[in-house]
Amino acid sequence: MTGHSGAIGIFDSGMGGLTVFARIAERLPEESVIYLGDTARVPYGTKSAETVLRYARACADVLLARGIKLLVAACNTASACAVPALEQSLGVPVIGVIEPGARAAVQRTRTGHIGVIGTMATVSSGAYPAAITALMPDAQVVGQACPLFVPLAEEGWTEGDVPTLVARRYLEGLRGAGIDTLVLGCTHYPLLKSVIGPVIGQSVALVDSAEETAVTVEEVLTRLGLRAPAGSQARREFLVSDGPENFARVGKRFLGGDLDCVEWIDF
Ligand code: DGL
Repeated sequence: MTGHSGAIGIFDSGMGGLTVFARIAERLPEESVIYLGDTARVPYGTKSAETVLRYARACADVLLARGIKLLVAACNTASACAVPALEQSLGVPVIGVIEPGARAAVQRTRTGHIGVIGTMATVSSGAYPAAITALMPDAQVVGQACPLFVPLAEEGWTEGDVPTLVARRYLEGLRGAGIDTLVLGCTHYPLLKSVIGPVIGQSVALVDSAEETAVTVEEVLTRLGLRAPAGSQARREFLVSDGPENFARVGKRFLGGDLDCVEWIDF
């Protein structure tokens, strides 16, 4: 452990985790944060659980070598397939986005009928239904994989006919399922909120786990005495396994601001 002087390490398969990075940086401005986007191997969501775990371990190793004090898997797929194993084997606390997302969904729902959309790997892992019913045993959870939402978000096609048609096809089944809450169970999906909202219906609350994940990070750092001392000079670093220029260009949409310096690393 590197104590309170280390950075928070965040990883995702690509850019989606920047939606989580933004909330953590906003909530904890004095904390240094290192973000790793595994852009050479994105998407994770179509891979097997074993492969996702192998990739997640490699990301964790890169960040541990840089002295992080806490690891955030800012990727639902990695959270579903790898966080339980990483928690057992790393010497730093590990936080995924599934439990925070489940907590936010349980807080929002009135009827206990909750929809979850995510990648193939996340939906087939059953991690969300397990996390939600652990908090609310009589909840009814229905899942739907929406794999095309990831390339649409990365391509910047987040409004208009094409994403609307895709959303209608994917969300057809959920529209008749009587849900009152829909978990955006993939860190790319918040970018498509303005399409998903009208298609699923304005009475359905959309839950994005980023804010609740930032709350969890703050709680864990505080509980373990790992908060950066007041007045610390916060660093923000971005690492990618491929395409730093593209990451900087497209990443602005996810982050809602410029990415100053993106380092290309080989691991
Ligand atoms: N960011 C990933 C997630 O939250 C989705 C992208 C991918 O398939 O790699 O599941």
